[in-house]
Amino acid sequence: MQRIAMLGSGFIGRFYADSLQGQRSKDKIISIYSRREESAKKFASDYQVPYYSTNMEEAIAHPEVDVVCVSLPNNLHEQAVMLCCKHKRAVMVTKPLGRNAEEARRMLDAAEKAGIFNGYLEDLVYAPKFLKAHETVRKGALGRILWAKSRETHPGPHSEWFWDLEQAGGGCILDLGCHCVEIARSFIGKDIRPAEVMCWADTQVKPIDAEDHAIGLVKYENGAIGQFEVSWTFRGGMDLRDEVMGEEGTIWTNNFLRTGFEMFTTGKGGDYVAEKAESNSGWLFPVGDEINELGYNHMFTDMFSALENGVAPKETFYDGYVVNSILDAAYRSAKSKQWEPVKLDDWRGRKGLTKESHLTEYDPDHYLVKEEVTHYGAKKIILKNKKTGKIEEKVLE
Ligand SMILES: NC(=O)c1ccc[n+]([C@@H]2O[C@H](COP(=O)([O-])OP(=O)(O)OC[C@H]3O[C@@H](n4cnc5c(N)ncnc54)[C@H](O)[C@@H]3O)[C@@H](O)[C@H]2O)c1
Repeated sequence: MQRIAMLGSGFIGRFYADSLQGQRSKDKIISIYSRREESAKKFASDYQVPYYSTNMEEAIAHPEVDVVCVSLPNNLHEQAVMLCCKHKRAVMVTKPLGRNAEEARRMLDAAEKAGIFNGYLEDLVYAPKFLKAHETVRKGALGRILWAKSRETHPGPHSEWFWDLEQAGGGCILDLGCHCVEIARSFIGKDIRPAEVMCWADTQVKPIDAEDHAIGLVKYENGAIGQFEVSWTFRGGMDLRDEVMGEEGTIWTNNFLRTGFEMFTTGKGGDYVAEKAESNSGWLFPVGDEINELGYNHMFTDMFSALENGVAPKETFYDGYVVNSILDAAYRSAKSKQWEPVKLDDWRGRKGLTKESHLTEYDPDHYLVKEEVTHYGAKKIILKNKKTGKIEEKVLE
Protein backbone atom coordinates (compact mmCIF):
# COMPACT_ATOMS: atom_id res chain seq x y z
CA MET A 1 0.00 0.00 0.00
CA GLN A 2 1.26 3.47 -0.87
CA ARG A 3 0.31 6.54 1.15
CA ILE A 4 0.23 9.51 -1.13
CA ALA A 5 0.52 13.27 -0.70
CA MET A 6 -1.33 14.98 -3.54
CA LEU A 7 -0.16 18.49 -4.42
CA GLY A 8 -2.88 20.34 -6.33
CA SER A 9 -6.61 19.71 -6.24
CA GLY A 10 -7.47 20.74 -9.79
CA PHE A 11 -8.18 18.96 -13.05
CA ILE A 12 -5.33 16.41 -13.09
CA GLY A 13 -5.20 16.03 -9.30
CA ARG A 14 -8.78 14.77 -9.43
CA PHE A 15 -8.21 12.51 -12.45
CA TYR A 16 -5.23 11.00 -10.62
CA ALA A 17 -7.23 10.64 -7.41
CA ASP A 18 -10.02 8.84 -9.30
CA SER A 19 -7.43 6.43 -10.66
CA LEU A 20 -5.42 6.05 -7.44
CA GLN A 21 -8.48 5.31 -5.31
CA GLY A 22 -10.62 3.74 -8.03
CA GLN A 23 -11.80 0.13 -8.29
CA ARG A 24 -10.50 -1.81 -5.24
CA SER A 25 -7.19 0.03 -4.98
CA LYS A 26 -5.39 -0.26 -1.67
CA ASP A 27 -3.36 2.93 -2.26
CA LYS A 28 -4.66 6.01 -0.47
CA ILE A 29 -4.19 9.75 -0.61
CA ILE A 30 -3.52 10.71 2.99
CA SER A 31 -2.40 14.33 2.55
CA ILE A 32 -3.64 17.04 0.19
CA TYR A 33 -2.10 20.44 -0.51
CA SER A 34 -4.12 23.14 -2.20
CA ARG A 35 -3.49 26.86 -2.26
CA ARG A 36 -6.97 27.73 -1.00
CA GLU A 37 -8.37 26.18 2.15
CA GLU A 38 -11.84 25.59 0.72
CA SER A 39 -10.37 23.63 -2.23
CA ALA A 40 -8.17 21.55 0.07
CA LYS A 41 -11.14 20.85 2.34
CA LYS A 42 -13.42 19.95 -0.57
CA PHE A 43 -10.85 17.56 -2.05
CA ALA A 44 -10.26 16.01 1.40
CA SER A 45 -13.98 15.46 1.81
CA ASP A 46 -14.53 14.14 -1.75
CA TYR A 47 -11.66 11.61 -1.47
CA GLN A 48 -11.74 10.89 2.30
CA VAL A 49 -8.27 12.38 2.83
CA PRO A 50 -7.48 12.67 6.56
CA TYR A 51 -5.03 15.61 6.34
CA TYR A 52 -5.21 18.81 4.31
CA SER A 53 -2.98 21.86 4.21
CA THR A 54 -2.46 25.12 2.41
CA ASN A 55 1.27 24.74 3.10
CA MET A 56 3.05 22.67 0.45
CA GLU A 57 5.98 21.68 2.65
CA GLU A 58 3.73 20.49 5.47
CA ALA A 59 1.72 18.31 3.10
CA ILE A 60 4.94 16.70 1.79
CA ALA A 61 6.59 16.31 5.21
CA HIS A 62 3.55 14.63 6.81
CA PRO A 63 5.21 11.65 8.58
CA GLU A 64 2.99 8.99 6.99
CA VAL A 65 3.61 10.01 3.38
CA ASP A 66 5.43 7.44 1.17
CA VAL A 67 5.17 9.21 -2.16
CA VAL A 68 4.30 12.67 -3.42
CA CYS A 69 2.25 13.27 -6.57
CA VAL A 70 2.84 16.70 -8.10
CA SER A 71 -0.30 17.96 -9.90
CA LEU A 72 0.49 21.67 -9.85
CA PRO A 73 0.89 24.25 -12.64
CA ASN A 74 4.17 23.91 -14.57
CA ASN A 75 5.93 26.79 -12.79
CA LEU A 76 5.53 25.05 -9.40
CA HIS A 77 6.98 21.63 -10.32
CA GLU A 78 10.55 22.57 -9.43
CA GLN A 79 9.67 24.00 -6.02
CA ALA A 80 7.68 20.85 -5.18
CA VAL A 81 10.50 18.53 -6.32
CA MET A 82 13.11 20.42 -4.28
CA LEU A 83 10.94 20.04 -1.17
CA CYS A 84 10.62 16.30 -1.85
CA CYS A 85 14.43 16.11 -2.10
CA LYS A 86 14.74 17.97 1.19
CA HIS A 87 12.34 15.58 2.95
CA LYS A 88 13.60 12.49 1.04
CA ARG A 89 10.17 11.66 -0.34
CA ALA A 90 9.61 9.54 -3.45
CA VAL A 91 8.11 11.83 -6.09
CA MET A 92 6.07 11.58 -9.28
CA VAL A 93 5.54 14.69 -11.42
CA THR A 94 2.89 15.29 -14.04
CA LYS A 95 3.91 16.38 -17.53
CA PRO A 96 5.74 18.45 -18.68
CA LEU A 97 8.51 17.89 -16.15
CA GLY A 98 9.87 21.44 -16.54
CA ARG A 99 9.03 24.60 -18.41
CA ASN A 100 12.30 23.99 -20.25
CA ALA A 101 15.22 21.55 -20.21
CA GLU A 102 17.23 23.64 -17.76
CA GLU A 103 14.47 23.35 -15.15
CA ALA A 104 13.99 19.66 -15.90
CA ARG A 105 17.74 19.02 -15.58
CA ARG A 106 17.84 20.72 -12.17
CA MET A 107 14.98 18.49 -10.97
CA LEU A 108 16.65 15.36 -12.39
CA ASP A 109 20.01 16.16 -10.79
CA ALA A 110 18.48 17.06 -7.43
CA ALA A 111 16.35 13.90 -7.28
CA GLU A 112 19.29 11.67 -8.22
CA LYS A 113 21.57 13.43 -5.74
CA ALA A 114 18.97 13.01 -2.98
CA GLY A 115 18.61 9.35 -4.00
CA ILE A 116 14.81 9.51 -4.17
CA PHE A 117 12.49 7.57 -6.48
CA ASN A 118 11.45 9.79 -9.38
CA GLY A 119 8.64 9.09 -11.83
CA TYR A 120 7.47 11.11 -14.81
CA LEU A 121 3.68 10.91 -15.16
CA GLU A 122 3.34 10.64 -18.95
CA ASP A 123 0.04 8.81 -19.05
CA LEU A 124 -0.28 8.42 -22.81
CA VAL A 125 2.56 5.91 -23.06
CA TYR A 126 0.48 3.78 -20.69
CA ALA A 127 -2.79 3.98 -22.66
CA PRO A 128 -3.95 0.40 -23.33
CA LYS A 129 -3.87 0.86 -27.10
CA PHE A 130 -0.38 2.34 -26.91
CA LEU A 131 0.86 -0.55 -24.71
CA LYS A 132 -0.43 -3.10 -27.22
CA ALA A 133 0.95 -1.18 -30.22
CA HIS A 134 4.31 -0.69 -28.53
CA GLU A 135 4.64 -4.36 -27.61
CA THR A 136 3.78 -5.28 -31.22
CA VAL A 137 6.45 -2.90 -32.50
CA ARG A 138 8.97 -4.19 -29.99
CA LYS A 139 8.42 -7.77 -31.19
CA GLY A 140 9.19 -6.66 -34.74
CA ALA A 141 5.79 -6.82 -36.46
CA LEU A 142 6.47 -3.48 -38.16
CA GLY A 143 10.17 -4.09 -38.82
CA ARG A 144 12.47 -1.10 -38.65
CA ILE A 145 10.50 1.98 -37.56
CA LEU A 146 10.76 4.80 -40.08
CA TRP A 147 8.16 7.33 -38.92
CA ALA A 148 6.02 7.79 -35.82
CA LYS A 149 3.41 10.52 -35.69
CA SER A 150 1.36 11.58 -32.71
CA ARG A 151 -1.39 14.15 -32.73
CA GLU A 152 -3.05 15.85 -29.77
CA THR A 153 -5.35 18.72 -30.55
CA HIS A 154 -8.28 20.21 -28.66
CA PRO A 155 -10.04 23.58 -28.23
CA GLY A 156 -7.65 24.76 -25.49
CA PRO A 157 -6.95 24.23 -21.78
CA HIS A 158 -9.36 24.68 -18.91
CA SER A 159 -7.47 27.02 -16.49
CA GLU A 160 -6.08 30.52 -16.76
CA TRP A 161 -2.45 29.70 -15.89
CA PHE A 162 -2.02 27.57 -19.07
CA TRP A 163 -2.62 30.70 -21.17
CA ASP A 164 0.01 32.72 -19.30
CA LEU A 165 3.45 32.19 -20.87
CA GLU A 166 5.36 32.84 -17.66
CA GLN A 167 3.48 30.26 -15.58
CA ALA A 168 3.02 27.67 -18.31
CA GLY A 169 6.44 28.07 -19.98
CA GLY A 170 4.98 27.65 -23.48
CA GLY A 171 1.82 27.06 -25.46
CA CYS A 172 0.53 23.89 -27.11
CA ILE A 173 4.04 22.71 -28.07
CA LEU A 174 4.95 22.29 -24.41
CA ASP A 175 1.49 21.35 -23.11
CA LEU A 176 0.57 18.76 -25.75
CA GLY A 177 3.82 18.23 -27.65
CA CYS A 178 5.35 16.63 -24.54
CA HIS A 179 2.87 13.72 -24.91
CA CYS A 180 3.42 13.39 -28.66
CA VAL A 181 7.20 13.51 -28.46
CA GLU A 182 7.34 10.78 -25.82
CA ILE A 183 4.95 8.58 -27.79
CA ALA A 184 7.03 8.86 -31.00
CA ARG A 185 10.28 8.49 -29.06
CA SER A 186 8.98 5.28 -27.45
CA PHE A 187 8.04 3.77 -30.82
CA ILE A 188 11.38 4.73 -32.38
CA GLY A 189 13.37 3.62 -29.33
CA LYS A 190 14.16 5.60 -26.19
CA ASP A 191 17.82 4.61 -26.53
CA ILE A 192 18.04 6.32 -29.96
CA ARG A 193 19.33 9.85 -29.69
CA PRO A 194 17.04 12.62 -30.97
CA ALA A 195 19.32 14.68 -33.18
CA GLU A 196 17.49 17.73 -34.52
CA VAL A 197 14.07 19.37 -34.82
CA MET A 198 12.24 21.39 -37.47
CA CYS A 199 9.08 23.12 -36.29
CA TRP A 200 6.40 25.46 -37.55
CA ALA A 201 4.40 27.29 -34.88
CA ASP A 202 1.98 30.19 -34.96
CA THR A 203 -0.64 31.97 -32.89
CA GLN A 204 -3.53 31.64 -35.30
CA VAL A 205 -6.57 32.30 -33.14
CA LYS A 206 -6.09 33.01 -29.42
CA PRO A 207 -5.07 36.40 -27.96
CA ILE A 208 -1.99 34.98 -26.22
CA ASP A 209 1.82 35.33 -26.34
CA ALA A 210 2.39 31.60 -26.81
CA GLU A 211 1.72 29.45 -29.90
CA ASP A 212 -1.74 27.89 -30.30
CA HIS A 213 -0.92 25.57 -33.23
CA ALA A 214 2.28 23.78 -34.27
CA ILE A 215 3.69 20.93 -36.33
CA GLY A 216 7.17 19.54 -35.76
CA LEU A 217 9.57 16.92 -37.06
CA VAL A 218 12.11 15.24 -34.78
CA LYS A 219 14.98 13.53 -36.59
CA TYR A 220 16.66 10.64 -34.78
CA GLU A 221 20.27 9.51 -35.16
CA ASN A 222 19.26 6.21 -36.86
CA GLY A 223 17.34 8.11 -39.57
CA ALA A 224 13.84 7.61 -38.10
CA ILE A 225 11.54 10.60 -37.95
CA GLY A 226 9.04 11.56 -35.27
CA GLN A 227 6.22 14.00 -36.00
CA PHE A 228 4.01 15.96 -33.64
CA GLU A 229 0.82 17.85 -34.43
CA VAL A 230 -0.58 19.98 -31.63
CA SER A 231 -3.24 22.63 -31.33
CA TRP A 232 -5.27 24.61 -28.83
CA THR A 233 -7.58 25.78 -31.60
CA PHE A 234 -8.90 22.46 -32.93
CA ARG A 235 -12.70 22.27 -32.88
CA GLY A 236 -14.63 19.09 -32.23
CA GLY A 237 -13.26 17.67 -28.97
CA MET A 238 -9.96 16.03 -28.20
CA ASP A 239 -8.22 14.35 -31.11
CA LEU A 240 -5.65 11.85 -29.84
CA ARG A 241 -4.21 9.74 -32.63
CA ASP A 242 -0.95 7.94 -33.33
CA GLU A 243 0.43 6.46 -36.54
CA VAL A 244 3.52 4.30 -36.83
CA MET A 245 5.11 3.18 -40.05
CA GLY A 246 7.85 0.57 -40.33
CA GLU A 247 9.44 -1.36 -43.17
CA GLU A 248 7.11 -4.30 -42.52
CA GLY A 249 3.89 -2.69 -41.37
CA THR A 250 1.74 0.12 -40.07
CA ILE A 251 -0.30 0.86 -36.94
CA TRP A 252 -2.96 3.54 -36.57
CA THR A 253 -4.59 4.14 -33.21
CA ASN A 254 -7.29 6.53 -32.09
CA ASN A 255 -7.63 6.93 -28.32
CA PHE A 256 -10.58 9.27 -28.02
CA LEU A 257 -12.82 10.11 -30.97
CA ARG A 258 -14.66 7.54 -33.07
CA THR A 259 -13.36 4.60 -31.09
CA GLY A 260 -16.49 2.54 -31.71
CA PHE A 261 -18.79 4.28 -29.20
CA GLU A 262 -21.06 6.60 -31.18
CA MET A 263 -24.28 8.11 -29.89
CA PHE A 264 -26.93 10.65 -30.86
CA THR A 265 -28.99 12.72 -28.43
CA THR A 266 -31.15 15.80 -28.76
CA GLY A 267 -29.47 16.96 -25.54
CA LYS A 268 -32.28 16.03 -23.16
CA GLY A 269 -30.65 15.11 -19.83
CA GLY A 270 -27.26 16.06 -21.32
CA ASP A 271 -24.25 15.32 -19.18
CA TYR A 272 -20.44 15.12 -19.27
CA VAL A 273 -19.37 13.23 -22.40
CA ALA A 274 -15.56 13.14 -22.38
CA GLU A 275 -12.60 15.46 -21.73
CA LYS A 276 -12.75 18.58 -23.94
CA ALA A 277 -15.93 17.40 -25.73
CA GLU A 278 -17.51 20.55 -27.13
CA SER A 279 -21.11 19.45 -27.10
CA ASN A 280 -23.54 17.20 -25.28
CA SER A 281 -26.09 16.95 -28.06
CA GLY A 282 -26.09 15.70 -31.65
CA TRP A 283 -23.75 12.91 -32.66
CA LEU A 284 -21.29 12.28 -29.84
CA PHE A 285 -18.25 10.08 -29.23
CA PRO A 286 -18.21 9.19 -25.53
CA VAL A 287 -15.27 7.33 -24.00
CA GLY A 288 -16.10 4.14 -22.09
CA ASP A 289 -13.59 4.37 -19.25
CA GLU A 290 -11.68 7.60 -19.63
CA ILE A 291 -9.34 7.00 -16.68
CA ASN A 292 -8.26 3.68 -18.12
CA GLU A 293 -8.24 4.70 -21.79
CA LEU A 294 -5.91 7.62 -20.97
CA GLY A 295 -3.45 5.29 -19.24
CA TYR A 296 -3.71 6.55 -15.65
CA ASN A 297 -4.35 3.08 -14.14
CA HIS A 298 -1.47 1.36 -15.93
CA MET A 299 0.77 4.35 -15.17
CA PHE A 300 0.27 4.23 -11.39
CA THR A 301 0.55 0.44 -11.40
CA ASP A 302 3.97 0.76 -13.04
CA MET A 303 5.02 3.60 -10.70
CA PHE A 304 4.07 1.82 -7.49
CA SER A 305 5.34 -1.61 -8.57
CA ALA A 306 8.70 -0.01 -9.41
CA LEU A 307 8.75 1.89 -6.13
CA GLU A 308 8.01 -1.25 -4.13
CA ASN A 309 10.62 -3.28 -6.04
CA GLY A 310 13.30 -0.63 -5.72
CA VAL A 311 13.67 -0.19 -9.50
CA ALA A 312 13.08 2.70 -11.89
CA PRO A 313 9.63 3.04 -13.47
CA LYS A 314 9.22 3.04 -17.25
CA GLU A 315 9.10 6.87 -17.26
CA THR A 316 11.54 8.77 -15.06
CA PHE A 317 12.70 12.37 -14.67
CA TYR A 318 15.38 11.50 -17.22
CA ASP A 319 12.64 10.94 -19.83
CA GLY A 320 11.04 14.23 -18.81
CA TYR A 321 14.39 15.95 -19.32
CA VAL A 322 14.87 14.44 -22.81
CA VAL A 323 11.33 15.51 -23.79
CA ASN A 324 11.96 19.07 -22.55
CA SER A 325 15.24 19.17 -24.52
CA ILE A 326 13.46 18.14 -27.73
CA LEU A 327 10.75 20.76 -27.16
CA ASP A 328 13.35 23.47 -26.48
CA ALA A 329 14.84 22.67 -29.91
CA ALA A 330 11.33 22.92 -31.41
CA TYR A 331 10.92 26.42 -29.97
CA ARG A 332 14.31 27.46 -31.34
CA SER A 333 13.43 26.05 -34.76
CA ALA A 334 10.04 27.80 -34.88
CA LYS A 335 11.98 31.06 -34.47
CA SER A 336 15.00 30.37 -36.69
CA LYS A 337 13.04 28.42 -39.36
CA GLN A 338 16.02 26.00 -39.47
CA TRP A 339 16.70 22.48 -38.22
CA GLU A 340 17.91 22.99 -34.66
CA PRO A 341 20.07 20.48 -32.73
CA VAL A 342 18.66 18.81 -29.63
CA LYS A 343 21.03 19.82 -26.84
CA LEU A 344 21.48 16.94 -24.40
CA ASP A 345 24.37 17.42 -21.97
CA ASP A 346 23.43 14.14 -20.35
CA TRP A 347 22.74 11.38 -22.93
CA ARG A 348 22.33 7.87 -21.51
CA GLY A 349 21.26 5.95 -24.64
CA ARG A 350 23.23 4.44 -27.52
CA LYS A 351 26.04 6.51 -28.96
CA GLY A 352 27.57 6.91 -32.41
CA LEU A 353 24.64 5.51 -34.44
CA THR A 354 24.36 6.40 -38.10
CA LYS A 355 21.41 6.18 -40.46
CA GLU A 356 20.46 2.51 -40.78
CA SER A 357 20.97 0.71 -44.12
CA HIS A 358 17.93 0.66 -46.37
CA LEU A 359 19.30 -1.85 -48.91
CA THR A 360 17.59 -5.24 -49.35
CA GLU A 361 19.61 -7.82 -51.19
CA TYR A 362 17.80 -9.62 -54.08
CA ASP A 363 20.79 -11.62 -55.42
CA PRO A 364 24.55 -11.05 -55.37
CA ASP A 365 24.28 -8.50 -58.21
CA HIS A 366 21.06 -6.69 -57.30
CA TYR A 367 19.19 -4.84 -54.58
CA LEU A 368 15.42 -5.28 -54.48
CA VAL A 369 13.38 -2.12 -55.07
CA LYS A 370 9.87 -3.61 -55.22
CA GLU A 371 7.76 -6.63 -56.12
CA GLU A 372 4.46 -5.96 -57.86
CA VAL A 373 1.39 -7.91 -59.00
CA THR A 374 -0.61 -5.79 -61.42
CA HIS A 375 -4.36 -5.73 -62.07
CA TYR A 376 -3.76 -7.48 -65.42
CA GLY A 377 -1.99 -10.40 -63.73
CA ALA A 378 1.65 -9.59 -64.41
CA LYS A 379 4.23 -10.31 -61.73
CA LYS A 380 7.19 -7.96 -61.81
CA ILE A 381 10.33 -7.38 -59.87
CA ILE A 382 12.07 -4.04 -59.88
CA LEU A 383 15.80 -4.21 -59.10
CA LYS A 384 18.82 -2.00 -58.82
CA ASN A 385 22.08 -3.24 -60.34
CA LYS A 386 24.76 -2.97 -57.65
CA LYS A 387 27.59 -2.27 -60.09
CA THR A 388 25.98 0.06 -62.63
CA GLY A 389 23.35 1.59 -60.33
CA LYS A 390 20.80 1.04 -63.14
CA ILE A 391 17.16 0.30 -62.28
CA GLU A 392 15.94 -2.85 -64.03
CA GLU A 393 12.57 -4.60 -64.33
CA LYS A 394 12.04 -8.37 -64.56
CA VAL A 395 8.65 -9.75 -65.61
CA LEU A 396 7.97 -13.14 -64.05
CA GLU A 397 5.71 -15.85 -65.45
N1 LIG B 1 -2.80 14.16 -19.15
C1 LIG B 1 -2.05 14.73 -18.27
O1 LIG B 1 -1.08 14.15 -17.85
C2 LIG B 1 -2.38 16.12 -17.79
C3 LIG B 1 -3.63 16.69 -18.06
C4 LIG B 1 -3.90 17.98 -17.56
C5 LIG B 1 -2.93 18.66 -16.84
N2 LIG B 1 -1.71 18.08 -16.62
C6 LIG B 1 -0.65 18.81 -15.88
O2 LIG B 1 -1.04 18.92 -14.53
C7 LIG B 1 -0.58 20.13 -13.96
C8 LIG B 1 -1.77 20.87 -13.36
O3 LIG B 1 -2.73 21.09 -14.38
P1 LIG B 1 -4.31 21.05 -14.10
O4 LIG B 1 -4.93 20.80 -15.40
O5 LIG B 1 -4.61 20.16 -12.97
O6 LIG B 1 -4.54 22.55 -13.68
P2 LIG B 1 -5.71 23.12 -12.77
O7 LIG B 1 -5.68 24.59 -12.97
O8 LIG B 1 -6.98 22.41 -13.01
O9 LIG B 1 -5.25 22.76 -11.29
C9 LIG B 1 -4.06 23.26 -10.76
C10 LIG B 1 -4.03 23.16 -9.26
O10 LIG B 1 -2.93 23.95 -8.78
C11 LIG B 1 -3.42 25.00 -7.94
N3 LIG B 1 -2.65 26.23 -8.18
C12 LIG B 1 -2.76 27.07 -9.22
N4 LIG B 1 -1.91 28.10 -9.08
C13 LIG B 1 -1.28 27.92 -7.91
C14 LIG B 1 -0.30 28.64 -7.21
N5 LIG B 1 0.21 29.77 -7.66
N6 LIG B 1 0.12 28.16 -6.03
C15 LIG B 1 -0.37 27.01 -5.56
N7 LIG B 1 -1.30 26.26 -6.19
C16 LIG B 1 -1.75 26.72 -7.35
C17 LIG B 1 -4.88 25.16 -8.30
O11 LIG B 1 -5.60 25.71 -7.25
C18 LIG B 1 -5.27 23.72 -8.57
O12 LIG B 1 -5.46 23.00 -7.38
C19 LIG B 1 0.14 20.87 -15.10
O13 LIG B 1 1.52 20.64 -15.02
C20 LIG B 1 -0.43 20.22 -16.36
O14 LIG B 1 0.45 20.27 -17.46
C21 LIG B 1 -1.45 16.82 -17.05
